[in-house]
Parts: sequence; C-alpha cells; structure tokens
Amino acid sequence: MYSEKVMDHFQNPRNVGEIENASGVGTVGNAKCGDIMRIYLDIDDQGVIRDCKFKTFGCGAAVATSSMATELVKGKTIQEAMEVTNKAVMEALDGLPPVKVHCSLLAEEAIHAALWDYAGKHGIKIEGLEKPKSDIHEGEEDEQEEY
Ligand code: FES
Repeated sequence: MYSEKVMDHFQNPRNVGEIENASGVGTVGNAKCGDIMRIYLDIDDQGVIRDCKFKTFGCGAAVATSSMATELVKGKTIQEAMEVTNKAVMEALDGLPPVKVHCSLLAEEAIHAALWDYAGKHGIKIEGLEKPKSDIHEGEEDEQEEY
C-alpha cells in the first residue's frame, strides 16, 4: 500500500526536532484526523532556507510527508520553497494512497504557515503566499486541551 520511500521516511524521518530562535515557525492541524504538524525554518539574509526541522503528532504518512517536505525545502530560496506543494511532496515519495492525500496537504500548509510567520516577523510579502487556513496559534492549541 505504501511506497518504499514512504516507509523509509516514516521509519527514518529526516530533520526531526526544533530550531531554537527559528526565522519562522508554522503549526497546522487537520480537524478531522486531529493530526498536528509543526515546521521550523532557519532563513538567512539572502532568503535561503539554511535549515528546516519538524515535529509531527500524527499518522505515518504525516511523518513521511513532513520528513520529505523538510528535505525538499532545505537549501532552497523562499520562492523555490513555495513550489514545494503537496503534489511535489507526494511525487517525491512515489505517491500516497488516496485516503492519505490530506496528510501531504498538511506538509504544504505547515511550510506556508512557517513562511507566513517569517514574512510577518520581517514585514515582507511573499509572492503567492496566503495565510494558511489550518494555521493553529499557540493559544488555540491550549484551549483544545480543555475538551
Ligand atoms: Fe490525518 Fe494523516 S491521517 S494527517
């Protein structure tokens, strides 16, 4: 059901962790499955993504797609990172079963949320970037714990 690449990135996820004082952090969640993904970006003065890490509380496909997404954006410029769509992530993983497509969408949204955070902190506008719908703010996340 899963490609070898998906299994590899699920079993040996790349870039797991946090970046202290990251240039941008984005946290997104899917309300239906409850999975949460957070991506940290370290962006230099040239607008190049020097480092990227992630933390995912979610299914195996969410882990594999976040791992692949971090690999794909590392070393890229912000504009190039905008091209790392969920489709690009899925292709790089040799596909995902249809019911798991939303997991790859979470990876795209997490990158966008982190870029959105970066843009906000630096007062810049990133061409083509819109506020990710499922962006979770710290406060809202805390509130959810009350349920
Ligand atoms: Fe929801 Fe995978 S099942 S992110």
